[in-house]
Amino acid sequence: MNFPKNRMRRLRYNRILRNMIEDVSIQTSDLIYPIFITEGLGIKEEITSMPGQYRYSIENAVEFCKELVENKISSIILFGIPEEKDETGAISCKSESIIPRAITKIKSQFSDKLFIIADVCNCEYTKHGHCGTIIENDVDNDSTLKTLAEQSLILARSGADALAPSDMMDGRVNAIREILDINGYEKTPIFPYSVKYHSAFYGPFRDAANSSPSFGNRKSYQMNFKNSNEAINEVKLDINEGADIIIIKPALSYLDIISKIKNKFNIPIIAFNVSGEYSMVKSASKNNYISEIESIFEILYSIKRSGANAIITYHALEVAKYLKENDL
Ligand code: PBG
Ligand code: ZN
Repeated sequence: MNFPKNRMRRLRYNRILRNMIEDVSIQTSDLIYPIFITEGLGIKEEITSMPGQYRYSIENAVEFCKELVENKISSIILFGIPEEKDETGAISCKSESIIPRAITKIKSQFSDKLFIIADVCNCEYTKHGHCGTIIENDVDNDSTLKTLAEQSLILARSGADALAPSDMMDGRVNAIREILDINGYEKTPIFPYSVKYHSAFYGPFRDAANSSPSFGNRKSYQMNFKNSNEAINEVKLDINEGADIIIIKPALSYLDIISKIKNKFNIPIIAFNVSGEYSMVKSASKNNYISEIESIFEILYSIKRSGANAIITYHALEVAKYLKENDL
């Protein structure tokens, strides 16, 4: 290409032409809304570290889902805040547990209008806040697989449309696939967080879900962000164990990883635009340091551009409302 014959700007002057040749798009159907569900009645409690996000009791979550559906959001992912916790997370493995009850209720109201993804992990249900069973100061891999599998079965029975294990134990996709298949849930897909880094950007989530580890950290199971190629092995293993879609998180500091996985594997990718990424936008825009809606779109487009098919994002509702009212 040679200047002056080639001028890239020729394609940028006209709005119609600009729109015509865009090669990445965001639609409301790409967005998955994360919801925190808590015990009790009549609760809608704002999360301090996540302005605009709330903890809902079940009936209020159902109300909120109405608003989502009215705005054409058709997928949610659920996180539970139980009243009681135990040592292993076994408390989550019964149908009276908070998320199974929430799923039953939401499904009865919305049926196939809402696709419900259930996050599968123990950290919201353990007293120590780790993602599994502690044996000799270690989160024991193989005994944790049992609670993860049992939790998954209960979630599938309550009506979850997909299961998203976020614990990072080795072999969990296999363990979950097995228990689902034995019990007649061979049609329920598994979306593991195959690539989940040990990240400071989960901070506001742990505040929201009261799930911070009471000792140590999650470095012995979540990935080290100083590695690049480890992600390939994680995805390969999960695909072999039966993953249907893989989730990558966080999103923003890991766009290179999303792109790498997209190029390497033929499997749909969901990126998780996590709590800390949300709260950074909220606090900077509150101070008028950046324009809120413009930066949200720039971020979501970057995630789509990197190769994600869909995005879990706390911005989903504001984006859906904006898309409804504006012709982008
Ligand atoms: C639970 C879980 C976490 C997130 C999703 N599932 C927290 C963690 O691993 O500490 C983080 C989501 C977010 O920050 O928005 N294992
Ligand atoms: Zn966890």
